[in-house]
Amino acid sequence: METSESLSTFRWGKEGRWRGICLPFPRLFTVTCLALSGLPNACGVFAIPDIKPNIVLMLADDLGIGDIGCYGNNTIRTPNIDQLAKEGVKLTQHIATASICTPSRTAFLTGRYPIRSGMSARTEPRVFIRTGSSGGLPPNETTFAKLLQQQGYTTGLIGKWHQGVSCKSRNDHCHHPLNHGFDYFYGTPLSFLNECQSGKDSEISQQLRAACWSYTHLISLLVFTLLLGNISGMTSLKWKAIAFVAVCGILFFITWFSCYGFSRYWDCILMKEHIVTEQPIKAENVTFKILKEAISFIERNKQGLFLLFVSFLHVHTPCYTTELFNGKSRHGLYGDNVEEMDWMVGKILTAIDKEGLRDNTFVYFTSDNGGSLELREGSTQCGGWNSIYKGGKGMGGWEGGIHVPGIVRWPGMIPVNISIDEPISLMDIYPTVVHLAGASVPQDRVIDGKNQIALLQGEVKHSEHEFLFHYCGAYLHAVRWYQKESGALWKVHYVTPKFHPEGASACYNRKICPCFGDGVTHHNPPLLFDLSRDPSEANPLSPTTEPLFNTILSHTERAIREHKKTLTPVPEQLDIYNIIWKPWLQPCCGAFPFCWCDDETDSNAINIQI
Ligand SMILES: *[C@@H]1O[C@H](CO)[C@@H](O)[C@H](O)[C@H]1NC(C)=O
Ligand SMILES: *[C@@H]1O[C@H](CO)[C@@H](O)[C@H](O)[C@H]1NC(C)=O
Repeated sequence: METSESLSTFRWGKEGRWRGICLPFPRLFTVTCLALSGLPNACGVFAIPDIKPNIVLMLADDLGIGDIGCYGNNTIRTPNIDQLAKEGVKLTQHIATASICTPSRTAFLTGRYPIRSGMSARTEPRVFIRTGSSGGLPPNETTFAKLLQQQGYTTGLIGKWHQGVSCKSRNDHCHHPLNHGFDYFYGTPLSFLNECQSGKDSEISQQLRAACWSYTHLISLLVFTLLLGNISGMTSLKWKAIAFVAVCGILFFITWFSCYGFSRYWDCILMKEHIVTEQPIKAENVTFKILKEAISFIERNKQGLFLLFVSFLHVHTPCYTTELFNGKSRHGLYGDNVEEMDWMVGKILTAIDKEGLRDNTFVYFTSDNGGSLELREGSTQCGGWNSIYKGGKGMGGWEGGIHVPGIVRWPGMIPVNISIDEPISLMDIYPTVVHLAGASVPQDRVIDGKNQIALLQGEVKHSEHEFLFHYCGAYLHAVRWYQKESGALWKVHYVTPKFHPEGASACYNRKICPCFGDGVTHHNPPLLFDLSRDPSEANPLSPTTEPLFNTILSHTERAIREHKKTLTPVPEQLDIYNIIWKPWLQPCCGAFPFCWCDDETDSNAINIQI
């Protein structure tokens, strides 16, 4: 089967030359190429085709590496993702840049540590929690979508964005996907949340509390100051007092409403391009809508080059699962949701096949961060399983939050059914797809990702990464050092979040472990692990157990100093001012504040037969 599949990848170059047959041998890095033509360098490498590939990137939300069959799960059924791995390369050291959505996605989109764009927070929360806040991916950041667009690709984002919406006015959409290189957008500007399913407890109200109250206090103070001055002739103290109480009362009500009562209407929304089409989201239809949009994007653009970024709402809470999969898995609602997402992956791959695009499409699948240990639905787990790795979503540098699945398929161009155990960052997708599209990365800024195509093709043995920095918000918690010559993979933790391995109370009743303050432990000397021998970070090394202890630390410290030299101060996108709800920025499909709509136009066409 391997051989016939490989033979079918035999292709003509643009000018009608043979490019060579490639015979990948499973589980070997080495790839032998049979050069049939006068192409002397076709041996040992996969030639980059003259024709640029389509790019399909699939990103799951909060999926744990241990939730997938091909990464060792034998009770959850993920046949489509497993098949994708068989047809391509499985990355076993695939590392997210942050352990939580917003900054991890920023790094993915920009190929840079999120601290470079101000997308890593100094305070909590570390992610956007309102659609009506002013922070977001700065307009001067260049996503891979923007570069591919310039190369003639039609670019689409279907699903979750979570990188902000507007800056100054409701419709400026400065952070919106369409302002960041996507020609088409359908999905949620924020995220899928518990409150998006009616009847579910609000997930963000807890996180919001602090922001809400500082907002109220700030405005009350402002009103108070204004009233102290003589405005509009209100000189009597009595009237000032009445006006003060009235204004504060209204503000209090609005704040309460926005923070506690209404976030389903204001934050669970679906947009098509610049228009809000569903407010609030109907959880029961959204899976089919996302899938239908992804498939129709492929169908619409099959004639030309396209980049499709499918950013699943799965498997984030509320783990809403349609009837097709509800109750079908052996792992409750969470397992049902994973199996449903796998089904969606299968449908998207089928659409690629149906249009005859399989050979000319670079397909990638990953997760933005590890599974959440804390999330529960009642008494059952509603967060992912991070296999042997310690910790989970939000937990700084622990492997569980950042060690994610990664699968790449590009028939005939990269080997089939092998694993690559070299460190590859999610940031690497940026220079890799930019290269495939024939563009070059911006020269006016630091790009932290590395083009990994040569590694994927077996042309080189090692990843270019030597050091990877593991931030928690804007705080550097840990560093990993890959010592290529010895194969050792050192990890040094300077700070770790305090957590308890037992599920629900993982972060001592916080929803997400904090990055600083009393929720973390500072280590001096730092904790050192050799991940190549101890991937679970169970046994910290000491100068007695590891003779190289001090040498390793001085190496990583030097690397940190060098890294810090490359950082420049930029506006903070997740500070309190940029994260609070600003009514004048609220995306709204009606007349604000009466925001509700339901674009039912094509819901009849949506069915499970997609
Ligand atoms: C498979 O995934 C489920 C759900 O996340 C988890 O509970 C289970 O432990 C996993 N099994 C294995 C063998 O990893
Ligand atoms: C984007 O603009 C900000 C604010 O003016 C600036 O600090 C930053 O360096 C710019 N980023 C890039 C990549 O040019």
